[in-house]
Amino acid sequence: MAMGLHLLQIQFILAILLIFLTTSISSSNTGVTFPIAKPNCSDHCGNVTIPFPFGTKEGCYFNSSFLVTCKDTYYNPPKAFLQNSNIEITNISLDGQFRVLNYISRDCYDQNGTRVLRNDSFIRLTTSFTINNTANKITAIGCDTNAFVYGERLNNNFYRTGCNSWCGNEGELVNGSCSGLGCCQTSIPKEVWTANLTLRSYDNFAYVSYFSNCSYGFLAEECAFNFSPSSLSSLWNVHRLPMVVDWAVGDGTCDKAQNNTSSYACKSMNSKCYKPDNGYGYRCYCQEGYQGNPYLYDGCKDIDECLDPSLNKCEMKCENTPGNFTCVCPKGYHGDGKKEGQGCIRGESLVIKLVAGSAVGVIVLLLGAFCLYLELQRRKLITMKRKFFLQNGGLLLQEQLIRRDKSTDTAKIFTSAELNKATNNFHDNNIIGQGGFGTVYKGFLSDNRIVAIKKSKQVDPNQVEQFINEVIVLSQINHKNVVKLLGCCLETQVPLLVYEFISNGTLFEHINNKTKARALSWDMRLTIATEAAGVLAYLHSAASPPIIHRDIKSANILLDTNFTAKVSDFGASRLVPLDQTQLSTMVQGTFGYLDPEYMQTNQLTDKSDVYSFGVVLLELLTGRKALSFDGPEEERNLASYFLSTLKQSRLFQVLDESILCEGNSEELIAVAMLAKSCLYVKGDDRPGMKEVAMELEGLRISGKHSWTQTELNVEEMESLLSVEMNTYSNGEGNSTGTGYDSMRDHIIPPMGGGR
Ligand SMILES: *[C@@H]1O[C@H](CO)[C@@H](O)[C@H](O)[C@H]1NC(C)=O
Ligand SMILES: *[C@@H]1O[C@H](CO)[C@@H](O)[C@H](O)[C@H]1NC(C)=O
Ligand SMILES: *[C@@H]1O[C@H](CO)[C@@H](O)[C@H](O)[C@H]1NC(C)=O
Ligand SMILES: *[C@@H]1O[C@H](CO)[C@@H](O)[C@H](O)[C@H]1NC(C)=O
Ligand SMILES: *[C@@H]1O[C@H](CO)[C@@H](O)[C@H](O)[C@H]1NC(C)=O
Ligand SMILES: *[C@@H]1O[C@H](CO)[C@@H](O)[C@H](O)[C@H]1NC(C)=O
Ligand SMILES: *[C@@H]1O[C@H](CO)[C@@H](O)[C@H](O)[C@H]1NC(C)=O
Ligand SMILES: *[C@@H]1O[C@H](CO)[C@@H](O)[C@H](O)[C@H]1NC(C)=O
Ligand SMILES: *[C@@H]1O[C@H](CO)[C@@H](O)[C@H](O)[C@H]1NC(C)=O
Ligand SMILES: *[C@@H]1O[C@H](CO)[C@@H](O)[C@H](O)[C@H]1NC(C)=O
Ligand SMILES: *[C@@H]1O[C@H](CO)[C@@H](O)[C@H](O)[C@H]1NC(C)=O
Ligand SMILES: *[C@@H]1O[C@H](CO)[C@@H](O)[C@H](O)[C@H]1NC(C)=O
Repeated sequence: MAMGLHLLQIQFILAILLIFLTTSISSSNTGVTFPIAKPNCSDHCGNVTIPFPFGTKEGCYFNSSFLVTCKDTYYNPPKAFLQNSNIEITNISLDGQFRVLNYISRDCYDQNGTRVLRNDSFIRLTTSFTINNTANKITAIGCDTNAFVYGERLNNNFYRTGCNSWCGNEGELVNGSCSGLGCCQTSIPKEVWTANLTLRSYDNFAYVSYFSNCSYGFLAEECAFNFSPSSLSSLWNVHRLPMVVDWAVGDGTCDKAQNNTSSYACKSMNSKCYKPDNGYGYRCYCQEGYQGNPYLYDGCKDIDECLDPSLNKCEMKCENTPGNFTCVCPKGYHGDGKKEGQGCIRGESLVIKLVAGSAVGVIVLLLGAFCLYLELQRRKLITMKRKFFLQNGGLLLQEQLIRRDKSTDTAKIFTSAELNKATNNFHDNNIIGQGGFGTVYKGFLSDNRIVAIKKSKQVDPNQVEQFINEVIVLSQINHKNVVKLLGCCLETQVPLLVYEFISNGTLFEHINNKTKARALSWDMRLTIATEAAGVLAYLHSAASPPIIHRDIKSANILLDTNFTAKVSDFGASRLVPLDQTQLSTMVQGTFGYLDPEYMQTNQLTDKSDVYSFGVVLLELLTGRKALSFDGPEEERNLASYFLSTLKQSRLFQVLDESILCEGNSEELIAVAMLAKSCLYVKGDDRPGMKEVAMELEGLRISGKHSWTQTELNVEEMESLLSVEMNTYSNGEGNSTGTGYDSMRDHIIPPMGGGR
């Protein structure tokens, strides 16, 4: 970057120097005049200069083809005409072209379709002259128009060409566009020296006479005419347009012409001959370094380049030479004298030293300024990071961390640079999850640990303290079934949380993916439920202060490779002060899992987590989503649907098929009953998380006995099962006979045992 600046500066300085040098030189462009006509010959007619080989009198022109008739009696200023014709010349150039005014053809009709005017143009040059085929175009204007051009080419050849133009109404004509609508254009061949242009109409303007009644056609310099819709009428007042004619002298090749010195037209010293690609003859020009009329004796004059600074590049002194110039340095200087070369340098190249010295000075100054700028930017960035750090409660956290045991696993404060590196600048490819609370990126720390980095949404400044407390408390939770918070970063505008990376996805994914769900056996589900319940029990009773998770759902229970549950996402969690059992908060959570009592009263208690956990149990049991918009309306909310099926004693119809056949109906029923108790509308009626966890743990260890220990209503269960069996035998259910058989086999004995 510094290098780029460096170069830029040098360029800048050079530009300034150049501007200075060029403006300091006065541009004295003296108009050098040289004869262009023969001695005693007129070199102009009115405004038109007439260079030899053209001339207005005998002895003044090359041969009679180059006669220019100057009519000064009829016209003032006088007008020049080619030979004895009525072709007016407006400009003659020594480069081999002259301009004439060529007539416009016209063809007009009245309303009845009768031709009222026809005037075809024709032009006839001599064979010394040809119509320039690149500068000129055949153009026809009109809405019912055919232009036909024909004539002679050199060597007695003929040509015929032309174009058609038509239009239906005035509206479709386009400014500047000459492609067939109201205007058409075509080129002419090379070596043309006569041209007749006739116009015709196909329908005598019958259909367009209400807005157009004439066709126009001309062979003229292309840039002399620009089509616009108004041309249809305005051309009526134009009679002639300029046309470019090429001229050349003699005939044959340059070599041949040079053999006959008396007739060779390039009379001047330092003149040369070339052959144009349009015409019989050849042309002459003055060599480089000379200007003038090459067709005259001594017509090419040396150019004094030293008089015109744009022609020489000398720094101090310029000396003219024939056809060239040299730059010289005065005494005491050395160098080649040219601005772009070494220039003139006095003695020990003082000038170069001066220039170089000042340039280096300026560069150093600019580099210094640039470094200063970089430093300021760096400081600004640091200040900003510091500001975010403070705004995000960094000081508070630091203080807390110091106050606590400095030794072990408390949260680490990561720098933003560390995390940017870990996530490849938070590249989209690293996103592994997106939710209401923020975006989760996968990251690789420099110590090879894989982490999940949660980029939170903007934290409310009023809740900073709370956020810090949560971070601290969570970093203290050392529970094997809680996703471990490794630390956070407070230097960015939004705080970043760094967790251990759990590889096997969420419980939600496993339940709702058919293949994965089949692999998730009942035992595994029970273990996961037990582990999750254990975490909640721990949060509610063992943690100090107690923590309410507030967003328990299957999507927040992660699974590692051994299907060990890891509860995550404490973004919404609340710490419950020890002297309170309930908190008044804004209702927050996920629909389908939300405690109805909490929703009504805004009073958050640990029983809200119990309700949500009950829904997770239902998901494990049924393999359905907590809130589903696929099925019938009554099945939308899993909790109410489940309760209603229980009421109708149809439990086994909603259970997940993949766990039905595992010979565990008593456990299923027990868990279903447990879930039911978790879903009681009144929070006080629900069991505590501790009881739920113990119940599940008991079931897991010895399913057969634990369920009887619960205070389940045995009558209720009996009726449930008998009705189940009736339903199945009536064929109302859609389970298979095998499902029923295996169920009966396993349900009967405990029933008996239960009595
Ligand atoms: C030009 O005309 C003058 C007189 O008008 C005459 O003296 C002179 O010789 C002429 N020069 C040439 C080259 O014909
Ligand atoms: C010709 O010259 C006269 C004055 O000498 C000037 O008014 C006129 O515009 C010029 N015409 C052309 C076509 O250059
Ligand atoms: C004559 O033509 C030359 C070259 O096309 C042009 O530079 C010059 O201005 C023209 N002179 C007049 C009077 O039109
Ligand atoms: C063409 O039409 C215009 C107006 O429509 C009229 O003034 C003009 O006389 C017509 N020209 C001819 C040749 O009929
Ligand atoms: C067109 O024809 C009608 C009758 O044929 C005639 O009265 C009228 O004068 C004609 N118009 C023109 C412009 O010739
Ligand atoms: C026809 O064009 C010639 C030139 O080609 C012109 O002299 C004559 O005046 C034009 N006639 C009419 C009726 O416009
Ligand atoms: C071109 O038109 C003129 C005048 O109408 C005519 O004299 C001449 O023969 C025509 N040229 C050709 C090649 O037909
Ligand atoms: C067509 O071009 C002319 C100038 O060449 C301009 O005055 C006129 O406004 C243009 N018309 C449209 C419709 O662009
Ligand atoms: C004039 O020279 C040209 C060649 O440039 C030639 O074709 C033509 O016949 C000559 N004209 C006269 C009248 O000599
Ligand atoms: C020019 O003349 C020389 C001899 O004078 C001859 O050899 C040569 O062929 C001639 N060149 C041409 C193109 O006629
Ligand atoms: C025709 O005119 C163009 C533009 O004026 C010029 O560049 C070209 O050399 C001319 N063609 C010939 C054969 O002189
Ligand atoms: C002028 O001289 C320079 C060297 O001094 C040379 O390169 C250049 O070609 C010369 N130009 C002409 C027209 O002779």
